[in-house]
Amino acid sequence: MNILLIGGGGREHALALKLSESELCKHVFIAPGNPGTAQIGTNVDISVNDFEAQKSFCLEHKIEMVVVGPEDPLVNGIYDFFQQEELKHIHIIGPSQFGAQLEGSKAFAKEFMMKMNIPTAKYKEFSNYSAVENTNIQQPASDNYEAGIEYIKNHSLPIVLKADGLAAGKGVVIAETHDDALHAFKEMLQENKFGKAGAKVVIEEFLTGIECSVFVLTDGESYCLLPTAKDYKRIGEGDKGLNTGGMGAISPVPFADEIFMQKVVTKIVEPTIKGLQQEKITYKGFVFIGLIKVNEEPFVIEYNCRMGDPETEVVMPRLESDLVALLLKLKNNELAGAECKLSPKHAATVMLVSGGYPEDFEKGKVMTGFESCENSLLFHAGTKQIEQNIVTNGGRVIAITTLADDLQTALKTSKSNAEKIQYEGKYYRKDIGWEFS
Ligand code: AMP
Ligand code: GLY
Repeated sequence: MNILLIGGGGREHALALKLSESELCKHVFIAPGNPGTAQIGTNVDISVNDFEAQKSFCLEHKIEMVVVGPEDPLVNGIYDFFQQEELKHIHIIGPSQFGAQLEGSKAFAKEFMMKMNIPTAKYKEFSNYSAVENTNIQQPASDNYEAGIEYIKNHSLPIVLKADGLAAGKGVVIAETHDDALHAFKEMLQENKFGKAGAKVVIEEFLTGIECSVFVLTDGESYCLLPTAKDYKRIGEGDKGLNTGGMGAISPVPFADEIFMQKVVTKIVEPTIKGLQQEKITYKGFVFIGLIKVNEEPFVIEYNCRMGDPETEVVMPRLESDLVALLLKLKNNELAGAECKLSPKHAATVMLVSGGYPEDFEKGKVMTGFESCENSLLFHAGTKQIEQNIVTNGGRVIAITTLADDLQTALKTSKSNAEKIQYEGKYYRKDIGWEFS
């Protein structure tokens, strides 16, 4: 069958590769894709939120399956758009717009977890929709800005503030002082820092522990677990400095052993799937559960309604089952009993980024050295082809993934290939996986 994959980063390069390896896949098109995905299938110049253009393309090219990489189109309702008569025959992977709120609204996700008794940090929500101009949201009588100020003043430190809606990964503030928390609260609720997305804020207790991510594929009734992964979000070594989209990842996660994963399944994954049914949420896709382990117990930090980036770059290489066959089972709720075979090998990915990232950085730096890399997969994230050259075209540039018998070998190989790729301003973290060395 012909498949359309939506997105254009390292995650999509890894997904495109896995999809293309299936005997069921005739051709994969990627919208918009990148120079890496162009080596696997055909890039299509359509943006991720242009549903009308995607519709025309799907009809013209006899697309039978659409796989959605990033959260934006999911939160904007791409699943629901594809339920219209002319597109109904196309199998789209993802949650409905209602279900995508698990990522698109922190308050929705928190309420869902409360209802299902899923362990998560204690919280309260506050809103000030009256401060948002030109909003078509009915101003709720529940606006409680002043109560939020009092709540913060009496809250233990640190305090976690989360903008309710999507805020390009910048909506979470961990404040070490009450003044910092009040400042962030005012920025979001009074000064419209994130517009409508920050007109409601979740304030929650800070949890201390070690994080990992669990990936679940579900048809809304049954599920299968994909490999666990841990990403490294900070720019600096030793997990210091600003947050980024992700500087590297490993899979499996050494501390996510059988005992811990059993708790994750019974306390989190199964109640989540049960909750989808109870709340009548149509969900045929990936659930990415960000967890924190506190005293041996798992707590949910966040839900995402798609795969992670760069986690996908370590998860997909460890999936031995045919991805297209698994995705096909979601359509008619046939996932129960499906085999999801995982490689026992270890995967590590090291992300090369542009100098200055995650703050200002330059693009267009010519990249060399690809041909001397050995034994790794090179997943393009922010690159562009200009005539004969591949140049940098984003903050995160390329993810170098290695699959090996042990984590240290995987990391060593990825790092050695990271040395071989050259461009002006190259930076990468040499300590990915540091806790496990
Ligand atoms: P999120 O955007 O929800 O993934 O949050 C970004 C990061 O903030 C998470 O990956 C955690 O490292 C951290 N974080 C979020 N919520 C909490 C919490 N309640 N306690 C401690 N850290 C948190
Ligand atoms: N790596 C974190 C994310 O994809 O949200």
